[in-house]
Amino acid sequence: MTAASAVTVKKQHLIDPEICIRCNTCEETCPIDAITHDSNNYVVDAAICNDCMACVPPCPTGAIDNWIQVISSNTYSIEEQYTWDELPEPQEVPEGVAEALSEPVDASVADARSTTVANDATDLENVPFTAAGSTIPPWSAAHPYVNLYTHKNPVSATVVGNYRVTGSDTESDIHHIVLDFGDNPMPVLEGQSIAIFPPGTDAKGRAYHARQYSIASPRDGERPGYNNVSITVKRVTADHDGNAVNGVCSNYLCDLQKNDVVKVIGPFGNSFLMPDLPDANLIMICTGTGAAPMRAMTERCRRLAKDNKYDGTLMLFFGARTERELPYFGPLMNLPKDFIDVNLALSRDADKPKQYVQDLIRERADDVLDLLNDSKTCIYVCGLKGMEEGVLAAFKDIVSASGQKWEDVHAELKAKGRLHFETY
Ligand code: FAD
Ligand code: A2P
Repeated sequence: MTAASAVTVKKQHLIDPEICIRCNTCEETCPIDAITHDSNNYVVDAAICNDCMACVPPCPTGAIDNWIQVISSNTYSIEEQYTWDELPEPQEVPEGVAEALSEPVDASVADARSTTVANDATDLENVPFTAAGSTIPPWSAAHPYVNLYTHKNPVSATVVGNYRVTGSDTESDIHHIVLDFGDNPMPVLEGQSIAIFPPGTDAKGRAYHARQYSIASPRDGERPGYNNVSITVKRVTADHDGNAVNGVCSNYLCDLQKNDVVKVIGPFGNSFLMPDLPDANLIMICTGTGAAPMRAMTERCRRLAKDNKYDGTLMLFFGARTERELPYFGPLMNLPKDFIDVNLALSRDADKPKQYVQDLIRERADDVLDLLNDSKTCIYVCGLKGMEEGVLAAFKDIVSASGQKWEDVHAELKAKGRLHFETY
């Protein structure tokens, strides 16, 4: 046996640390826990990854879609990947190793690698799903533009507004920020997001990576007919364990002044999109800044309804600590009751028992069930990661009580692009 014939090469699945915006989508999607992360990078464990491709379509940036040639006995460990600032070059194949010796990329994998999510996804059996929600849009959704601007090609936007949208005497400092793109194209759909680079470098001298924010304005602009987009940003002053921190990007954004210029990439997102039907129903469930896409969708419907182009049912479940900590409380409560059915779950109101969105979903079981059983209904959940479990449990209880099997209803909702989660 020659030395050369003992060598095989393969394509190792790797995540590009330069492009990745650390949104955790891939780790959540991977059905076999091959993806993990440290404080620096998201990485793929070559010993576990089976090239199933489930993680590829949901990745907002395409950072996940890298397959670097390596010698099979010399794959990169997750520890090595944690240290990277950029992807390595393909490993050189020793002279004399014929291409025939390479492990060819399986044809179905190669196909899936070049797949973009189609709006009229008919081959549902082959569509990968996250555990909880769909990775395909509703069939009638408009086709989204994604990745027009990347980390190598960001676009500048000018701040034209920055307002606090929670009570000034509360802990929750949430801002509505309007960004104008001038004559640079930024076509977006409700439910999509953008990412913004905070200026400066981390402790190791590396430029900060971009942070992702849901778009809070409808497709025709925060101001109709203008090339502007709004976002809803919570100033992070404590980490998830309650320890004091100074969130890099959220503080930068909340402190922006009018005429400041920010560096933006995106748009991202090709499944958390609203149906484009005049009689579609939306069940929207959110906490805190998860209100952003709900605001975008509601405003889209409001503008259409004004021209008699929309008359579906909108049902909103919105969780916040108190009314004063609920972003956009005033404008939301001004919407006509026959336009949107608003259900507020307040967890820290001195005069009311603690409520979460899932409690209200249960209280409204009959109406929720009627909507769930209507194929024109799509469900959107956005905000705290922790609410996913509670919301799914509430749906399961309601559906089971009606004699239907939740597993079947859940699978159908996912397969038809009718159940969407964006939690962080
Ligand atoms: P960092 O400097 O990155 O983090 C500082 C510390 O705070 C870290 O320990 C981190 O773990 C912790 N931390 C990070 N975020 C939070 C948080 N929200 N609460 C408590 N602790 C936190 N944010 C919005 O405000 N509005 C949005 O519409 C929005 N949409 C998002 C959509 C997606 C798909 C994703 C993945 C995230 C979204 N985020 C949104 C979160 C946002 O991208 C940032 O993570 C957030 O603003 C914190 O960034 P930072 O740079 O200020 O904090
Ligand atoms: P809580 O008062 O228990 O923190 P935040 O203000 O931190 O963004 O949270 C928004 C709302 O979401 C708050 O009312 C918060 O309640 C609530 N919340 C926290 N955890 C969950 C959960 N697991 N499911 C649903 N809502 C939650």
